[in-house]
Amino acid sequence: MVKVAPSILSGNFARMGEETVRMERAGADMIHCDVMDGIFVPNITFGPKMIADIRKFTETPLDVHLMIDRPERYLDLFVKAGADRLCFHIEATAEAEKNLAYIKSAGIKAGIAVCPDTPVENALPLLDRCDFVIVMGVRPGFSGQKYIPETSSRLRAFRSAVSERGLMTEIEMDGGANESNVDEIAGAGADVIVSGSCAFSSPTPEKVLAIFKSAGNRRNRQE
Ligand code: DX5
Ligand code: ZN
Repeated sequence: MVKVAPSILSGNFARMGEETVRMERAGADMIHCDVMDGIFVPNITFGPKMIADIRKFTETPLDVHLMIDRPERYLDLFVKAGADRLCFHIEATAEAEKNLAYIKSAGIKAGIAVCPDTPVENALPLLDRCDFVIVMGVRPGFSGQKYIPETSSRLRAFRSAVSERGLMTEIEMDGGANESNVDEIAGAGADVIVSGSCAFSSPTPEKVLAIFKSAGNRRNRQE
């Protein structure tokens, strides 16, 4: 079954605790937290204090997606804030292996994120050190963008690499997912699908999240 990770980037920043609980009640498997620095991406969101404050509202795992330049400067702060899963962009660092080792040594799940224009091959050598990899379906920075169709073949490439090498690395797809394309995304190999605008703009997020999760069921039935 596919796991769904609502992204609070699409929530009301003045009410993050309530927004998190709303998504938890709607069936979120984890809460996706988008950290942006205005340098690696052209948008600014929040830092470790937001993670620590959200942590007080929920026990649902916090999936922290760092879109910041040289993430090694801040990993310890996000670990201390209560992240359960922590990932950084391979395009933002020259120290990917060291960062993954550091995150793992802190006892939480370690991941990398890969932009749409980055060759899949750049990420493959790191896969066996990752608990998860985020395959971006849009250029990072904003929610509500259109899914880039080539993402599906990139997901298949990651899925093949994980299977061939017998790895347990989870594949997470982030950006542009909606009710119409989740079957394709799950079928291409995603284990986790992030939902920003789709989940938060709906008056019935529990229905949206159920559709995302059942995309996994349909994929399993085909196999
Ligand atoms: C984009 C963020 C995504 C975003 C997804 O930079 O990393 O997590 O919130 O939002 P949607 O699902 O609306 O594309
Ligand atoms: Zn994200």
